[in-house]
Amino acid sequence: MDVSEVRRRYLDFFAKRGHTIIPSAPIVPENDPSTLFTSSGMQPLVPYLLGQPHPEGNRLVDAQMSFRAEDIEEIGDNRHTTFFEMLGNWSLGDYFKQEQLPWLFEYLTNAEEGLGLDPHRLYVTVFGGDKESGMEADTESVEIWKSLFNKKGIEAAFVELDTEKKGGEAGMQGGRIFSYGAKKNWWSRAGVPSNMPPGEIGGPDSEVFYDFGLPHDEKFGKECHPNCDCGRFVEVGNSVFMQFVKRSDGAFEELPKRNVDFGGGLERLTAATRGNHDIFLIDVFDAARSTIESRALWKYGQNDETRFEYRIILDHIRAAAFMFAGGIRPSNTEQGYVLRRLVRRAILAADRLGIKDAVLADVAKGFGISYAEHYPFISEQHDVIREGLQKEEEQFRKTLASGLRELDRIIERSGVLSGDDAFFLFTTYGFPLELTLVEIGARNIKTSDDLVPVFKERFSTHLEKSRAGAAQKFAGGLADHAEQTIRYHTAHHLLLKALQTVLGPDVHQRGSNITSERLRIDFSYGEKMTPEQKEAAEKIVNDAIDEELPVTRVFMKKEDAERIGAEHEFGATYPAQVSVYSVGPKGATEDDPRFSEAFSIEFCGGPHVSNTRELGEGGKRFRIKKEEASSSGIRRIKAVLE
Ligand code: ALA
Repeated sequence: MDVSEVRRRYLDFFAKRGHTIIPSAPIVPENDPSTLFTSSGMQPLVPYLLGQPHPEGNRLVDAQMSFRAEDIEEIGDNRHTTFFEMLGNWSLGDYFKQEQLPWLFEYLTNAEEGLGLDPHRLYVTVFGGDKESGMEADTESVEIWKSLFNKKGIEAAFVELDTEKKGGEAGMQGGRIFSYGAKKNWWSRAGVPSNMPPGEIGGPDSEVFYDFGLPHDEKFGKECHPNCDCGRFVEVGNSVFMQFVKRSDGAFEELPKRNVDFGGGLERLTAATRGNHDIFLIDVFDAARSTIESRALWKYGQNDETRFEYRIILDHIRAAAFMFAGGIRPSNTEQGYVLRRLVRRAILAADRLGIKDAVLADVAKGFGISYAEHYPFISEQHDVIREGLQKEEEQFRKTLASGLRELDRIIERSGVLSGDDAFFLFTTYGFPLELTLVEIGARNIKTSDDLVPVFKERFSTHLEKSRAGAAQKFAGGLADHAEQTIRYHTAHHLLLKALQTVLGPDVHQRGSNITSERLRIDFSYGEKMTPEQKEAAEKIVNDAIDEELPVTRVFMKKEDAERIGAEHEFGATYPAQVSVYSVGPKGATEDDPRFSEAFSIEFCGGPHVSNTRELGEGGKRFRIKKEEASSSGIRRIKAVLE
């Protein structure tokens, strides 16, 4: 079957059983600042699961556009995608397990009304209880599943596998129904019971897996079992028995009415109807995949590496197309930042497939064709998607080019590239290690012996920090630090200008240090700044952010740069040809930088944001955190965007 057929049959099946078909909510949740994207069908329905009456009744069904940013790094295997459609049916305090599981089984196995999947290929899991929260095992679902399989002539043995680890050791044991602990069979938006914040709803769940019959890969454990990651079993649906709400004292309370929240992966179910474990071979990827094949050096299935790169492009550009069409634009924060990461990762993957010219817009066009019927806005918004992709690619290639120049400078200076250098290229220019290694090979660059281990060491510390930090919302958000550092570079220019305005033209930079957490500037000035002066400087910077001034870069002769009054650091030596960054005025461009009206002009290698507006994204304001003496006649300021 194709995706449209699986979706249509699902909606019809549940409509016939008293459900009202409701439209998909937008991919960016409305009125829910706690999360960036709609990542499951239940998310727009939370108020109704909590008890508020739904205008369409107690039985609902839909196909919800969903996006899971935390899966970005997973892309490349046979079954993960960041964007997907979640088929969902809900009982809002109406039916429960006794109806849900038989209906689902019927939809999956009935060839007339449903998908006609072979029940021998289906395996199910149930909740085995959780000591920590005191939640009991779901024995009722075990009995329901047993009788459903028995009716098909399948003996369905029940196996307790409470932990993942035990699964890997104990294996299938001839079972059909398996129980796991809370990590696998408890569902809430926050995961296991102990992770749920007060007010959050959740409950035990029962998952259905399709057995694609691949040989087990021992890399993932000695024995295979439904939750093994080797790719043999693919989860195709999950019935959550949404029954509990967490209280502020940490205990659980029964909801006034018990709900069912079912979520099924439309793309995975379609793959199951084809009996092919590769989700990227279903119809919605066909047009886009052909476009890549017509331009790449290798075909999709040629080998594991090329298949991996194709999957990155197919997944990321499909998601990007839905985001652009949904009004998101690339930026350095929130949804725009995720979109930027998707596009940049897809560009690098296309490069690795040997595609020299811009291909992403054409790939996106393929999705316009595939979704013409169900999501016509993808093709209607094609111009917006194309322009957005092209602009982002141009900008990214510029950043990459400055990174390459920086690489040259490092080699000129020290003759050898270290792991720290490679890490610097990553944080400042978005250079992944693989890309640096390719350049090293291509240019015959000398490297320190421990380049890779040092990079990896710094990378994992960085990863921990970014995971632990406030940026947790962007799970896996690696390049976040690079983007933030770039913003601080630009804020640094604004601050220097502001200090000159407030304290006088003799203020010059005497040192600086920028991290992803803050900027630091040392400057020539003899006295402690008053609170009024600090406030005035802050205001000048924030006004420049609010004015949304363009930031432009021009290469020019050193003398010319000095003539136009570009600020440069005392004691630094500059080459004959320098790079100059200017901020403002509105309307300035590289071809017409209008230096005489600029807010600030500095000798600088960059990189910088392209507009000061990016510093204020997400409501951030510039603040001076500390002003102190650095040495005689030199003051030091630490400042943040927060
Ligand atoms: N809300 C459940 C899920 O996303 C169905 O898996």
